[in-house]
Order: sequence, then C-alpha cells, then structure tokens
Amino acid sequence: MKSRRTFIRNSTLAGAGLSIAPNIIFANRSQKSMVSIGLIGVGLRGTNHLNNLIAREDVSVEAICDIDEARIKLNLDLIEKAGKRKPAVFGKDVYDYKNLLDMEQLDAVIIATPWLWHARMAKDAMRAGKYAGVEVSAANTLEECWDLVNVHEQTGTHLMILENVNYRRDVMAVLNMVRDNVFGELMHFRCGYQHDLRFVKLNDGISAYGKGVEFGEKGISEARWRTQHSLLRNADVYPTHGVGPIATMCNINRGNRFVSMTSHSTKSRGLHNYIVENGGPDHPNAKLDFKMGDVITSTIETANGETIIVTHDTSLPRPYSLGFRVQGTKGLWEVDCNRIYVEGVSKPHQWDDADPWLKKYDHPLWVKYGEQATGAGHGGMDFFVIQAFVESVKQKVAPPMDVYDAAAWSVITPLSELSIENNGAPQDFPDFTRGLWLKRAPYNWIKDTY
Ligand SMILES: NC(=O)c1ccc[n+]([C@@H]2O[C@H](COP(=O)([O-])OP(=O)(O)OC[C@H]3O[C@@H](n4cnc5c(N)ncnc54)[C@H](O)[C@@H]3O)[C@@H](O)[C@H]2O)c1
Repeated sequence: MKSRRTFIRNSTLAGAGLSIAPNIIFANRSQKSMVSIGLIGVGLRGTNHLNNLIAREDVSVEAICDIDEARIKLNLDLIEKAGKRKPAVFGKDVYDYKNLLDMEQLDAVIIATPWLWHARMAKDAMRAGKYAGVEVSAANTLEECWDLVNVHEQTGTHLMILENVNYRRDVMAVLNMVRDNVFGELMHFRCGYQHDLRFVKLNDGISAYGKGVEFGEKGISEARWRTQHSLLRNADVYPTHGVGPIATMCNINRGNRFVSMTSHSTKSRGLHNYIVENGGPDHPNAKLDFKMGDVITSTIETANGETIIVTHDTSLPRPYSLGFRVQGTKGLWEVDCNRIYVEGVSKPHQWDDADPWLKKYDHPLWVKYGEQATGAGHGGMDFFVIQAFVESVKQKVAPPMDVYDAAAWSVITPLSELSIENNGAPQDFPDFTRGLWLKRAPYNWIKDTY
C-alpha cells in the first residue's frame, strides 16, 4: 500500500512537471480535524514539544522514539498524567526511528534529535510520506541542504523548519510594522545567536546545566553532541534563530534571496578558560584546542540590496540577546535597549521606547492566542510554532517556513565555514528554489489560525 501511494504521488508530481509547491496538488483534499504525530528524539526539546502536543485536542501522539530509556520513561509518564493513550515506543537502536516511520497511521513526525541526525531523519520521514517537522538547524552541510530540497520535490511531502523565534511576540509585531511600511524600504539587518552556552556545552554527565566540564560520552543532553561541533568546526553552527525572522521580513525565497556571504572568526578562548576555571588546568579537556572561534560574524547580501550581519557568540560570558536590528529608509528597531526610531514620528534624533510601538502592532495571532500560549515555552512562541505545524499538517498545505527556507537558512553553516577557512572570501548561496524565488509570493503571516 505504502509503495503504491508513493508511486502515485511521485507520478502525479512528475506528470504535472512540478518541481515546487506540491501543495497545489494536495490543497483540494479534505482537511483533517485530528492529526497523528510521532516524536523522534524526546530529550529536552522533544519533551517541550510533547507537552505542547498533548495539551491539544486536535493531536494524537501515537509514537515516541528515543535511544535513552530515561527520556522515554519521563515522556510516557507525562502522557499518562495527561490522560492520553499510551503511544508506541521505539529506540532499541539508533535506526529504530525507521520502524516508527513505517506506522501507517502517522500523519507527521517531529524530529528533535542532535543536529547530525536531522537531515537523515527528515529525508526518511518525507520518503515515508510523513509531514516532517525538523528542529533547528535543519542541515549541517551543503549536500544535506540540497538533499532536503530534492527529497521534498521527489516525494511531494512537506518539511517545516520549527524555528520558534519567528513567532516571538516582538518579532511578529516588528514583522507587522515591516509589512505596514513603518520603516520604509528595508536596508540593513542584524541578528544572531548570542547565548552563553558554556554551562550547556560542558556538564557533569548528571544534570544538563550547571556543574562539570565534561562532554561527549561523559556529558549529557547537548554536551553529549553539541560540543563536538565547537571542537571540530569553525562555523556559525546555529544561524536560524537570528536569520529566520529576518528572512521572513525581507521575503527570502519569495521575491528576494540570499546571494553571497563573507564570514570572519575571532580566536577561541571561552570554553578553554571555563574548563580551566571549573575543572583545573590538569583536566584532560583543558588540553583540547577548540576550533570554533568565540565570535563569528557573517555579512549576507540579498538580491534586493539589503545586508544582514549575523553573529554566533556562544562561548563567552554575556547575557542572552539575539541582537536584532531592522533598519529601513524611514527608521529602525533595535532589540537591545528595546528602542525604535521612526522619522517624522519620533522626536528628531531621539529613540522611542519600543513598547508602545510593539503594543500598537501586536500581531493578531498573539492578540488571539497570547493567553493560551503563556507557559508553552520560550515566552509562548513554542505554542505558535507547534500550532503552525499542526495546522499545516491538518490542511495538507506547505508550511510557513518550508524546505526552501530550511535549506537557505541552514546553509549558512557550511558557507561560513568555507569563508572563514579562506580568509573571509565571499561564498555564493545556492538558489534552492531554482529560480522560482522570482515569482513566489510572500507568505501571508496574518492568518486567523496560524
Ligand atoms: N528551537 C529551540 O528553541 C530549541 C531549543 C533547544 C534545542 N533545540 C534543538 O532541538 C534539538 C534537540 O536538542 P535538545 O536540547 O533536546 O538535545 P537533547 O540532547 O536533550 O535531546 C536529543 C535527544 O535525541 C536522542 N537521540 C539521539 N540520537 C537518536 C536516534 N538516533 N534516535 C532516537 N533518538 C535519538 C537523545 O537520546 C536525546 O534524548 C537540537 O537540534 C537543538 O538544536 C531547539
């Protein structure tokens, strides 16, 4: 049955000569009122998604998969406490997720595993006909980015990159302001991931945050896999929290696209110093040479003549900030200091407190669901990203942040690595839409439900 369905879907796509937007084909099918979802990876992030899914009446969590028994137990307990039916359980080995994908009744899966598993699992999910929700970043290499696009186009199955920051309340209000032309013609953006993760990348193997300077096999949670990237890659390995919201504001892949990028890196000191301070100079990890520079700065040029400065800064002491700045011919928003300036409205050369502006332009979705979203995680934005995923699955349409976005945002990692390696030489972005960015319409973010 499954291979017959795949064949029909493939031949329909091939027959229609379509290489993009297969939702045109599926949009006419009846909308579902209930969707069955499987979770692959129920670590810290997957558990957060599970909590949001089991709180919904339109979702049935039919399966969970994790190679860590303790995570399975914790999640089964949560499901039982919520009075929901026990799901099928997978995780006997690292490929057991494939057996989850064989479950006929699943409409969709959410992948919240370590980065190196994302593209592989997402491709297998699309090939199995499961709508794939994949955590950030979606891919690690240029090849993986193309693979995601190609498999989507071959199968007609959708992929949504689960970039929750696109749903942050201030970000959505500023998107509203951008759409209302408050800042005029867009010129320049800043964004990034500036988060002191020293106590996440290094721990004691018992608790995820706090004590210890271990990683890899001796660490738990993100220290088990994330730190290896700091050891071996000098790249912006986590670009999407910053660039995702900016990409939607300047309509990347929908009338605009990233064209080229240069990247530079500082030396690496933060993790080494932290290990010496907390584990002593004789700790074996104090002898390691972490390849990733502490601050990585990339400058992207877009087809429409904007520039975007993206920063990755995760190993030095600092308070959290995604560092957003959105600047046009009439004014700008800066998240740090929470300020806005609009020529002709603000007092000349003086900042306004951003709050009244953000309140005025509060996004209709936040007005409608703000109360419900509170407590969903990360200030409520996790509610919206799950809502968008579930609604897209129910309606069988392309998601707000699709496979082309996943590829264009995630490819910043390998391109930054190449640029840094070559003394800041410019790197061209591939056009993952194969020219269709020219005629794709901007996504409508002002919908009633998601
Ligand atoms: N959007 C956000 O705000 C946000 C926040 C945190 C993490 N994340 C992303 O979510 C993902 C997971 O991060 P996390 O913090 O939950 O990490 P984690 O280490 O806590 O969880 C990952 C889980 O995947 C499991 N796993 C590993 N390989 C597996 C396999 N082959 N099959 C099944 N399970 C497997 C691990 O046992 C672990 O429980 C990462 O991509 C991370 O970047 C996103």
